[in-house]
Order: sequence, then C-alpha cells, then structure tokens
Amino acid sequence: MSLPPEALLNWIESRRSIRRFDGRPVPRALLERILNTACAAPSAHNSQPWRFAVVSAGEERRKLADRIAGEFQRDLRADGVKESDVEGRASRAVDRLLSAPAAVILCCTKSDMTRFADARRSQAETTMALQSASLAGGQLLLAAHAEGLGACWMCGPLFAPQAVRDVLRLPADWEPQALIVLGWPAEEPAPRDRRPLDDTVIWR
Ligand SMILES: Cc1cc2nc3c(=O)[nH]c(=O)nc-3n(C[C@H](O)[C@H](O)[C@H](O)COP(=O)(O)O)c2cc1C
Repeated sequence: MSLPPEALLNWIESRRSIRRFDGRPVPRALLERILNTACAAPSAHNSQPWRFAVVSAGEERRKLADRIAGEFQRDLRADGVKESDVEGRASRAVDRLLSAPAAVILCCTKSDMTRFADARRSQAETTMALQSASLAGGQLLLAAHAEGLGACWMCGPLFAPQAVRDVLRLPADWEPQALIVLGWPAEEPAPRDRRPLDDTVIWR
C-alpha cells in the first residue's frame, strides 16, 4: 500500500453509510472484486463462514423487499406503532432496497465450525462464526468505499431470516445476517458522530 499510515487511517475513517444512490448500475466485475476483498477477512479457524447472495434488480428483489417489509410491518403493529407510521416506515425500507443499484445479503454458515457437546463452547463457536462473517461485511464496506461506491449495512434480514431464505432459495445452512446496499453515492453523509475515545476505552 503506497499511502502513508496517517493518510490510510484517515481514508478508513472516511467511510460512511450511504443510503441514496444515483441510478448507474454496479458492474458485476466490480462486485466480484469487492466480494474478493470481503473474503480476505480473518476468520476463526480460517473457517470463512461468510456467504453472500447478490440479488439482482428485478422480480426477485421486489419479492424480497415485500417479504422483509411484511415482517417489519407485523413487528411494528405488534409494538403498537400507529398505522400511518407502520406504512411509512415499511415503504421507506422497500424503497431503500429497490432503489439500490446493487444488493448483497450477507449470510453466515456454521457448517465448518467445530462441534462441541456442551452448550458453552457451542455458543462460543456460533459467536465466532458471526464475528467472522461480520468482519467480512466490514471489509466489504471498505472495499466498496475504495472503489468510490457508497454502501450501507441494513439489518432487515436479521429480523426476517425465513423470508430471505424462501425468496432467495438459500442453502439450508446459510443464515441471513444483513443486507448491504451499494451504488454510486447521491448524498453527502451527515457529520460523523462518534463517542470520544475516553468513553469507549479503558487502559489497565
Ligand atoms: C449491524 C448494523 C446494522 C445496521 N442497520 C442499519 C439499518 O437497518 N438501516 C440503516 O439505515 N443503517 C443501518 N446501519 C448503519 C448504521 O446506522 C451506521 O453505520 C451508523 O449510523 C454510523 O454511521 P456511519 O456508517 O456513516 O459511520 C447498520 C450498521 C450496522 C453495523
């Protein structure tokens, strides 16, 4: 890497969540490049438990958006949210997914993790698989940033995993974790908002 460390760190910090895109498509070769970088993430036992479903714009994406939004509406109603807000929030979620030039569902598989008889270590393995898949998602966001793309991690699939499995006909061991929308940025992010280091770090 030719960037001096300070410049590189500043660049990493300049990644922001982007939720609005212009309409230009993201070429498949570019998505493959980004996914390769995601797959270079570290993982527990080098198990590489991340999996990705790239969802093309079109019928499949519409079905996915409708199913995720349906679950979202159901949850909001159960929470007692008033109907006009339920509709508004669900339709915003649908718009976000439909208007993104590219959409990737990040999944996690536990198939290659170590199997233990006891619950404590089984839980630790599950957590390690999720941690590893999340690191791949983080690298995907940075790789998109490196290519000049905007991206945002969205949690919808975590709340509607069966809907995602059904619509995308995912392999049985793929557990949907997140939706990452990508495209060419059409918004300036709000100023960065972070807690000061003193609130998040202790030194011993
Ligand atoms: C696990 C996770 C879930 C997120 N879910 C959503 C989401 O559902 N919708 C959304 O608009 N942004 C979502 N985000 C993006 C965060 O809101 C964003 O990262 C945070 O506000 C910090 O802003 P920044 O990414 O621009 O630094 C999520 C991020 C993470 C890591």
